[in-house]
Amino acid sequence: MQIIKTINDLTLALSEFRKKNPAGRVGFVPTMGFLHEGHLSLMKKAREQNECVVVSIFVNPLQFNNPDDFTGYPVNIERDSSLCKDEKIDILFLPSKEEMYPETPLISLNMPALVETLCGKYRAGHFEGVMLVVSRLFHLVMPDSAYFGKKDYQQLAIIKRMTKDLAFPLNIFGMPTMRERDGLAMSSRNVRLSAQAREHASLINRGLKLSLQARSKGNLNIEELKEIARDVMESGSMNRVEYVQIVEPNTLMDIEYLEDDTEFVIACAVYTDGVRLIDNMEWPGE
Ligand code: PAF
Repeated sequence: MQIIKTINDLTLALSEFRKKNPAGRVGFVPTMGFLHEGHLSLMKKAREQNECVVVSIFVNPLQFNNPDDFTGYPVNIERDSSLCKDEKIDILFLPSKEEMYPETPLISLNMPALVETLCGKYRAGHFEGVMLVVSRLFHLVMPDSAYFGKKDYQQLAIIKRMTKDLAFPLNIFGMPTMRERDGLAMSSRNVRLSAQAREHASLINRGLKLSLQARSKGNLNIEELKEIARDVMESGSMNRVEYVQIVEPNTLMDIEYLEDDTEFVIACAVYTDGVRLIDNMEWPGE
C-alpha cells in the first residue's frame, strides 16, 4: 500500500497505474478516518470491483458547522492505515488541509432542493462543504466508481445528484448501513458515548424498527409512524430528538400520504448525551 500525502504524488501514482493497466478500474472510498466496519464494507466492495483502490482520509473543515465537532473529531491514522493495509488498499491518500485547500475556495456548490431538508435544515453549510470536498477529490482521483454508506442517506442522495449534474464520469455505489448487535448504526462518533449513553443510543434504531413494524402491520398514518419512532427514542432520558421525517427516497421531499405501494425512508437525527447521531431505514427494506 502506498501512503501518499500530496496531490502531485497521487497524480503520479495513478498515472503509473493507468499506464500499466490501461483497462484497469479505479475504485474510490473517501472517508474522514477513524474507520469502522461500515468503511471496511465500502473498501471490500471497491476491492471486489476494481484493480486499484484508493482510500482518502481527510477531516474536511468546510463541512463542520460546529467548530467543537471539528476539533473533537476522533483521529487515529496509525490504526486506520493498518486497517487499510488489511483490506489490501493500493493507495491511502492523506492530504493536509493546506494540500486540499491551498487557498480558501471561492466557489460554492449548493443544491437547495436536496439540502434544505433533514440534516441540512440543522447543519448550515454542511452539505455545501461535502459537495466541495467530494467534487475536488473526484477530480484528483478520477475514479471509475466511488462508494458511500447509506447511513448518510442525504449525503448519498446529494452526491448521486451532483455526479449527474456535473457529469462526473463515474458510478456511485450506496452500501447498506453496518450496525452494532443492538442495531446502533456504526459511526466514528459512537466512541464519544459513555456506556450508559450507548444504551440510550440503541433506542434510535429500535424506534425506526418499531415504526416500520407498524407500517408492515398496515399502518399508513405518517404522523403516527413518526410518533412511534420519536416516543421510543425519547424514552431514553439522554436522547433529544432533532427530527424524525418520512421522505421520498430520491427527492427527499416529505411525504404527506402513504398508499399501499409508497416507498419511503424514515430518517432521524438524535442527540444522545450531546453526541449527534443519525440513522434511517428504507421501506420496503432491501
Ligand atoms: O461521509 C464522510 O465521511 C464525509 O462526509 C466525506 C464523504 C468523506 C466527505 O468529507
